[in-house]
Amino acid sequence: MQTLKRLSAGVLAGTLLLSPLAIAQQAILEGERFHPQESAYGMVSTSHFLASEISRDVLAKGGNAVDAAVTAGFALAVTQPRSGNIGGGGFMLISDESSGEVIAIDYRETAPDSATETMFQDEDGNAVTERSRYTHLAAGVPGTVAGLALALEEYGTMSLADALAPAIRLAEDGFAVPLRFVKGLDDARERFEPWDTSMATFFKQDGSSYAVGDVFRQPALAATLKRIAEHGASEFYEGETARLIVAEMDKHGGLMTMEDLASYEPVLREPSHGTYRGYDVYAMSPPSSGGAHIVQMLNILEEYPIGEMGFGAADTMHVMAEAMKRAYADRSEFLGDTDFVDVPLAGITSKQYADELRDQITMDQATPSDTIKAGNPTAYESNETTHFSIADNNGLAVSNTYTINFSYGSGIVVEGAGFLLNNEMDDFSAKPGVPNAYGLIGGEANKVEPGKRMLSSMTPTIVKKDGSNFLVTGSPGGSRIITTTLQVLMNVIDHDMNIQSAVSAPRMHHQWLPDEIRVESGFSPDTLKLLEQRGHVISLEPAMGAAQSIVIDNDVFYGGADPRRSTSSAIGL
Ligand code: DON
Repeated sequence: MQTLKRLSAGVLAGTLLLSPLAIAQQAILEGERFHPQESAYGMVSTSHFLASEISRDVLAKGGNAVDAAVTAGFALAVTQPRSGNIGGGGFMLISDESSGEVIAIDYRETAPDSATETMFQDEDGNAVTERSRYTHLAAGVPGTVAGLALALEEYGTMSLADALAPAIRLAEDGFAVPLRFVKGLDDARERFEPWDTSMATFFKQDGSSYAVGDVFRQPALAATLKRIAEHGASEFYEGETARLIVAEMDKHGGLMTMEDLASYEPVLREPSHGTYRGYDVYAMSPPSSGGAHIVQMLNILEEYPIGEMGFGAADTMHVMAEAMKRAYADRSEFLGDTDFVDVPLAGITSKQYADELRDQITMDQATPSDTIKAGNPTAYESNETTHFSIADNNGLAVSNTYTINFSYGSGIVVEGAGFLLNNEMDDFSAKPGVPNAYGLIGGEANKVEPGKRMLSSMTPTIVKKDGSNFLVTGSPGGSRIITTTLQVLMNVIDHDMNIQSAVSAPRMHHQWLPDEIRVESGFSPDTLKLLEQRGHVISLEPAMGAAQSIVIDNDVFYGGADPRRSTSSAIGL
């Protein structure tokens, strides 16, 4: 196996079908209900089969996991415009086994320089959510192009032009659209209607919808990607693309200027780190809340014999809900961009603090959220982000989550540039105490300030075992991202599930406010009744998250594609 690892994937690609090793490994998971993809040489797991294929081809030609990730990031911007993007931002974790380093690239959007604390409030100080969601004011300065380019430059081996080439081809030649694509656009039609460019981009000339199997082309997006390929990432921030963005802003009352774009910088950060039952857990640090709170929840849960208590058991779900509500209460108070505010991260992620929180939990009775901290419940929206995981056979693993916030972001396509603007400004607290679209309450720490990054829940995560990459995961899902990621991790570590079972298993979520456990279908009604008897409110909700994941164990790569997205695909090398 060690010898195999030293050979390049390119050399191995031709021999795969005959590999006795691969055949032997087929036997390992006999008897399981769900089967992950398996490979001895590398794995990609994304939410779109075209992006997975393109990314796998990069690995097969000898590219590393970062090359494959950046290529996938650009491909998803074309094949999955509801969340794949160049007009948004995100976070990438890269784990390099050989150096032992885990690096976090923060390419989250920033507030424009003329943004103000009250820009999403009316004269009476009431929050105006329409403004932070569906107007040009909703857009933060996009970070994706700079972030992906930085990843490639620092940790990849291929040129930006090569990483963009498959995306350009897909945008120019088009691709046959699947049902999920068609339905997504139809569902969002009303959001596009005020904007001629958006309608022209996503619907046919006569305004009718694309049908399954129709070829969908994006010539303006292809031209933008080509300009970036030719002139580099700075084209997006200082060239023709920047001018098109600013013209769009000027025409419709947006704030973003050429200076805002030119001064955008992705940042290399230390990921949040914790341990869970001997595993090392690395996840995104602020301006995401994900890493801090996944570590916090794991610390609380570590002292319970979760494996023995069992998956889906009332005791297990009870302690998970209790850990979740305490973490989300802290999120609302303390979390924000650490370049602007002090966040007590060491405390939040400390084992001692977890001991204190665990002491408040009783097994027979739910703690009402209003005794943990006061706030206002609100409705959720169903939205979209996208996560992908990639691992190569030279010890590099990449976990990437990026977004334009809602499905199709603000719904506004930049005229002449062919891509959607994010509506990430809604992730700031429009007013301290007023919830955002995910019902998340933000405090002073997350108020709007010029140049600041809005708080996120995105939680790209890499778990290591004895220094080796073990689990690569993350998810979309707004406020549910952190708990989805938590559950994939617990399913693998506590419940000993293979990665396909771990991502397929039903999920639950509690976010402190509203004071309810959201559950997907699939939990036992008996369990839910037992939870109600302890004082929990149960709310049956649609599927949560889409955790495209990988486990690497004994030099075998296992890919789990989340069945909650019909286009998800994990492909081994
Ligand atoms: O950064 C965040 O936490 C949100 N803007 C993510 C949005 C999202 O995941 C939408 N999802 N399904």
